[in-house]
Amino acid sequence: MSFRRGIACLTLVGGALVLSGCGSKQNSLHPESPPAHGITTLWWIMLAASVVGLGVIAGILIASWIRRDRIGGDKPAMAVILGLGIATPIAVIAALFVYSDIFLIRGTSPPAANAATGTTMTVRVIGHQFWWEVRYPGSRAITANEIHIPVRTHVLVLVHSRDVIHSFWVPQLNRKIDLEPDQVNRVELYADKVGRYRGQCAEYCGLQHAHMGFYVYADPPQVFARWLRTQAKPATHTSALFMSQCGNCHMIRGTSATGDAGPDLTHVGSRTSIAALTLHNTPVHMRAWIRDPQRWKPGAQMPALDLTNAQVDKLTAYLESLK
Ligand code: CUA
Repeated sequence: MSFRRGIACLTLVGGALVLSGCGSKQNSLHPESPPAHGITTLWWIMLAASVVGLGVIAGILIASWIRRDRIGGDKPAMAVILGLGIATPIAVIAALFVYSDIFLIRGTSPPAANAATGTTMTVRVIGHQFWWEVRYPGSRAITANEIHIPVRTHVLVLVHSRDVIHSFWVPQLNRKIDLEPDQVNRVELYADKVGRYRGQCAEYCGLQHAHMGFYVYADPPQVFARWLRTQAKPATHTSALFMSQCGNCHMIRGTSATGDAGPDLTHVGSRTSIAALTLHNTPVHMRAWIRDPQRWKPGAQMPALDLTNAQVDKLTAYLESLK
């Protein structure tokens, strides 16, 4: 392969890799809420300003290279040094500060803790290594890694962590917010359109940080209300095998499994994914996950149990039946 063809090939592959990150469900340049629109606009303004800045710098470099052979050299003009080197950066950074830290920050902030809340519902999100616990104050519903909210509704999300610092980020809906062990932080979620928005832990929190994803489902209000009613119900049936093997770490409301080290599995069969979006929730994946969690998420808290194939099949069937 010629050098030129090699470069073309690399560019194509690189471009495809970069573009594959776009148009998916986790794209901060594809905003679906007013705060996310504000953040995206800022991003484009900064990109445009950087391109202009790069152009100016490249122009000066090229000009100095063209004039490199001048005997005695040019004395740099003081006006250029003061104007481009000092005044322009100060003006640009000051403008950016005023725009983002004074105006944009208001549009992306949740209502103040002591103000009459402008939100109509609250969700609590608790970070764990390496998954998200989701609770709905006023309801018994507890779920994991899949947050449902009603569409076009201002939802206040209160976040904190059970272990290390994590960061809750749904790029299409709003800015990031840190989850800390000793304080509750706040972010507002609002979705313009019904849909599924991918979120991701945005603060390195350990070996499986990259496998700490979640979905936000923005549902029509009646669909959301029905979902919440279902999730609040206890499980209708139990499994002696689950209680003995898994019940110390996982909760299934309505049974004797009351562990709180891992996710609440009361309605795990209704979720689309397992292991914080690492695997699709299918019987095949559930079986593989139970058999050897460390194969899929090395460093996760869930251990492999010494189970027979028949036991794994039984647990899989039980968990998938919990709709
Ligand atoms: Cu949790 Cu990174």
